[in-house]
Amino acid sequence: CFEALGADQYLSGLTQLAQQNPGKVVAIGECGLDFDRLEFCPKETQIRYFEKQFDVAEETRLPMFLHCRNSHKDFLDVMRRNRERCVGGVVHSFDGTAQDAAALVDLDLYIGINGCSLKTEANIESMKSIPTERLMIETDAPWCGVKASHAGSRFVSTAFPTKKKWEEGHCLKDRNEPCHIIQVLEVMAAARGEDVMEMSSTIYNNTLKLFFS
Ligand SMILES: *[C@@H]1O[C@H](CO)[C@@H](O)[C@H](O)[C@H]1NC(C)=O
Ligand SMILES: [Zn+2]
Repeated sequence: CFEALGADQYLSGLTQLAQQNPGKVVAIGECGLDFDRLEFCPKETQIRYFEKQFDVAEETRLPMFLHCRNSHKDFLDVMRRNRERCVGGVVHSFDGTAQDAAALVDLDLYIGINGCSLKTEANIESMKSIPTERLMIETDAPWCGVKASHAGSRFVSTAFPTKKKWEEGHCLKDRNEPCHIIQVLEVMAAARGEDVMEMSSTIYNNTLKLFFS
């Protein structure tokens, strides 16, 4: 377990690693809470060490790559207490409500969208509520692809050659791959009624602003 290794030593090791590799380490993460996976770590431990991870973000002045699953209330509590300690961040794989999104935008954070963020009509409605200037995009490959059963899949226009067994030049069936990021963009742009190229340019600029400026 984390504590047995010596939490402070572990965190200062990570801080050093980041400080000694400027330009290579561009963010601190993933940090956050996941209450769907309590079998790996109880809530209290997650909250305590999420808070400690801000020490690393503060010392390195690097943005945070954040994870929040089934834990919006506690996540926001920690975030509000520590927001001043980090330069910024993105909450990836967002699957909350429009209200959750608004709270993150209020904290001046970016929101990362992938296939898991576009599963249901309710997911799509909350994605539409996020200002384009606050959006980021990702695959979270090999997980979180836009599946045929998802509400978002009706907006996908790009398909890739796919095989059940790995073969050169093909994607593997049911495995999300980095090239599938265009499908996430297609769903987002179509659902929002925005232009794909314009939107990708805004999202690209958002990404540069957070991680590379
Ligand atoms: C993104 O940034 C570039 C360079 O600053 C700019 O030319 C472009 O218009 C921006 N894109 C959008 C959609 O604002
Ligand atoms: Zn995550």
